[in-house]
Amino acid sequence: MAHNSFPTDHPAIVTCGLPYANGDLHIGHLRTYIGGDVIDRALQKLGQQTAFVSGSDMHGTPIAVNAREKGVSPEKFALQWHEKYQNTFSRFNIDFDNYGHTDDETNTALTQELVRDLDERGHIYESEVEVAWDTDVDQPLPDRYIEGICPYCGAVARGDECENCGRHLEPGELGEPRSVLTGSPPEYRVRQHKFFRLSDFQAYLQEFIDRLEGTENARNQPREWIETELRDWGITRDLEWGIPYPKEETDLVLYVWVDAPIEYIASTKQYADRVGKDVFDWTDVWKQDDGEIIHVIGRDIIQHHTVFWPAVLRAVEYTEPRAVMASGFVNVGGKAFSTSRDYAIWADEYLETGFHPDLYRYYVTTGSTFQQDIEFSWERFADRVNSELVGTLGNFLYRTLLFAYRHYEGTPDAPLSEGIHDRIQEANDEFVAGINDYSIRAVGIAALDLARFGNRYLQQSEPWNLIETDPERASRVIRDCIQLAKAIAVLIEPVTPQKAAHLWEQLSETTSVHDISIDTALEAPASALEEPIPLFEKIPDDSIEELTEALRE
Ligand code: MSP
Ligand code: ZN
Repeated sequence: MAHNSFPTDHPAIVTCGLPYANGDLHIGHLRTYIGGDVIDRALQKLGQQTAFVSGSDMHGTPIAVNAREKGVSPEKFALQWHEKYQNTFSRFNIDFDNYGHTDDETNTALTQELVRDLDERGHIYESEVEVAWDTDVDQPLPDRYIEGICPYCGAVARGDECENCGRHLEPGELGEPRSVLTGSPPEYRVRQHKFFRLSDFQAYLQEFIDRLEGTENARNQPREWIETELRDWGITRDLEWGIPYPKEETDLVLYVWVDAPIEYIASTKQYADRVGKDVFDWTDVWKQDDGEIIHVIGRDIIQHHTVFWPAVLRAVEYTEPRAVMASGFVNVGGKAFSTSRDYAIWADEYLETGFHPDLYRYYVTTGSTFQQDIEFSWERFADRVNSELVGTLGNFLYRTLLFAYRHYEGTPDAPLSEGIHDRIQEANDEFVAGINDYSIRAVGIAALDLARFGNRYLQQSEPWNLIETDPERASRVIRDCIQLAKAIAVLIEPVTPQKAAHLWEQLSETTSVHDISIDTALEAPASALEEPIPLFEKIPDDSIEELTEALRE
């Protein structure tokens, strides 16, 4: 089925890959959440009803392992991180409508309900598997408790997935396995486990992947897996930490990747319960033939979102995702972040520099297309802030507002030129086309190009001379530039929401820039204006040298 373009009549839902409640977030993780926030805000600007949801991923072996090392319960350990993330997101202006966690009641109940449903519909069977066992400490070694060689690419991999080639790995697939706890080679013991009949969904997935929207990598990367053999998916683990399998017959818990995406639904439910069914009905999104589910993730978890997850949704007759937007990675010094080697720029560290969060939002949104990897360095960061945000955007806005304030104490009383009207309309069209193409970069670029255009217009018209020679023409130019400034505020809001709000205030607008539609870009500006203050400050070279030095250590 071909989807209608945005805005549609159905409510949409934007989700972000859940962060593992397992340690500090770095600015690489933030790419997922900023990406989701930008697309959500931009959709709303088109008049699309949306809900923006996510939650913390509380289960899984790494959390159990780390909590044990710290001597606290996994629950307590994960909840501390969960609370911290909420604070980090709000500081970066990532404005979820609901942020839950996978261990809360809503998700536990819904996961058990859906798994029971899968079981009753015949999509689950039990089978014997050889489970790795560490005899030194007498415990099973699920997922990341075990390390070995990836059978697909030969890299060193841990338990359930290979970071190098991105494949999901089933228990027992690793070559030369060793226990992460003791380093010993494991013994294998036969255990009963539950499997989801993924292989039944091969034909479905082949069609699904062709109609999936979003970034190209999300369609291309999984094709090879879907075209070749699809093996059934092991959905239980020998762990205590997790959601219990919903049937008495077993004391296994569900594999973390079963309950994690279900949080997308649970979080929507919590939102709908809060605002009321008449405002947002979660079944309109999750139980419609033609829903608008947009998943925003990083490229390392494409397979989960384009193979396992849609098959599960299909099996329980829920709505399939409309789009998967999979971002490239954020690298530093040409290398991937590594939490274990403490090689990263942490979200907190960024905030401690005192740089406004919107600067990083702008950098990561507009620096490359969403699916490309992006290199972060403090030099590049400063360059782009100084040339684009300070030099182009800030410069245009400040020159315009200051001139208007000094000479007219506000917006001069003149008609808007037709050419400027058309140029703003063009920017609006680019914004709409960008969103329908799932390009958040296009949103930021539409605004920046408008500022570039404005600077040229000012330069060519020279209102500072016209004010003597042709005052009528001068007021017209400034009236045009105020309109451009207003349009920029509207268009840049998804990318730099707080800076857009400051600009909106300087334009003496009384509404909230977060709640208006893009058509506002062409509405008449306020007449009285206050003295402006520059929106962006230049980053001095010496502060960058210090930060770069710190990263090297
Ligand atoms: N818990 C899983 C997702 C479950 S979704 C039902 C997970 N968690 S994570 O903490 O490892 O990653 C959280 C998000 O950050 C994911 O979208 C992931 O792809 C993204 N990224 C993690 N490291 C990243 C970079 N270095 N660069 C860009 N995105 C990265 O995966
Ligand atoms: Zn591999």
